[in-house]
Amino acid sequence: MKAKKVTKAVFPVAGLGTRFLPATKSIPKEIMTLVDRPLIQYAIDEARAAGIKEFIFVTSRGKSALEDYFDYSPEIEASLRRSGKTDLLEVLKDTNMDSGAIAYVRQNRPLGLGHAVWCAKRLVGDEPFAVLLPDDVIAAEKPCLQQMVEAYAETGGNMVAAMEVAPEKAKSYGILDIENDMGSIVEAKGMVEKPAAGTEPSNLAVIGRYILSPDVMTNLSRAKHGAGGEIQLTDAIAEEIGKSKVYGFRFRGQRYDCGSKAGFLQATVAFGLSRPDLRDEFGAYLHDVIAMQKAAQ
Ligand code: UTP
Repeated sequence: MKAKKVTKAVFPVAGLGTRFLPATKSIPKEIMTLVDRPLIQYAIDEARAAGIKEFIFVTSRGKSALEDYFDYSPEIEASLRRSGKTDLLEVLKDTNMDSGAIAYVRQNRPLGLGHAVWCAKRLVGDEPFAVLLPDDVIAAEKPCLQQMVEAYAETGGNMVAAMEVAPEKAKSYGILDIENDMGSIVEAKGMVEKPAAGTEPSNLAVIGRYILSPDVMTNLSRAKHGAGGEIQLTDAIAEEIGKSKVYGFRFRGQRYDCGSKAGFLQATVAFGLSRPDLRDEFGAYLHDVIAMQKAAQ
């Protein structure tokens, strides 16, 4: 099967980010930095690697720092050029988006992830599209969305990134009900958002990467408020089961939940240790901290 190429991606960034208050009172969560790059940069780089050409941001009030981040910064660039700091100029290049490649659409009220995605309906049009949640940061040799785009080229339908979670964690995720397990790809016969403890149909949880058909947008147009009173993306995807295919994709990589404080700290350690310029000093520091903790016990 040859699926249509995925060239558009939606980045829902309109949430309130209450778990990071008071920081998120004035800083969008997506601008918070892992080492020296904001969360959103990791998501953009991943989308670019997967062949995405159009980037659609669903934003809300108080997110203007995000829009500025992707603009050119003539003063900084001129200063770096004058002082011959070409390496930093290169670093800045990754943050610039071509004119017209990036679009912003507003979600007036935080009615949930499903509603945020629906806000991009007109810009997405009648094409398959990717959705990336920037607070899920995935460290992988081959970027997660690229792995998915390659799998999707064979399967078509709808595809969600999936990973195994411990049973007690299932109530925090959308969980797949598995019809057919083919290894890295599973076919779903159902999806439940945040199942009550003990009712989860499997331990395969959906995380923040999706490739969806435009029919999901149509489902969202009719959507009712689901779990937690929000319009759930999971429900609109689950509606496709039986009409078209919904696949879970077991990606290869490590996902960090940077929407939570503990996840953000874990990612900071992991990304810090993976940086050649920081590895030795930071690694030695962590080593000392652990040794001191052990000695104090
Ligand atoms: P979260 O569930 O993490 O919500 O949203 P949140 O508001 O960002 O953070 P907390 O829970 O209050 O700390 C997951 C993703 O969906 C987006 C968020 O911006 C985030 O990328 N989202 C969520 C929206 O764009 N709109 C919404 O109404 C809800």
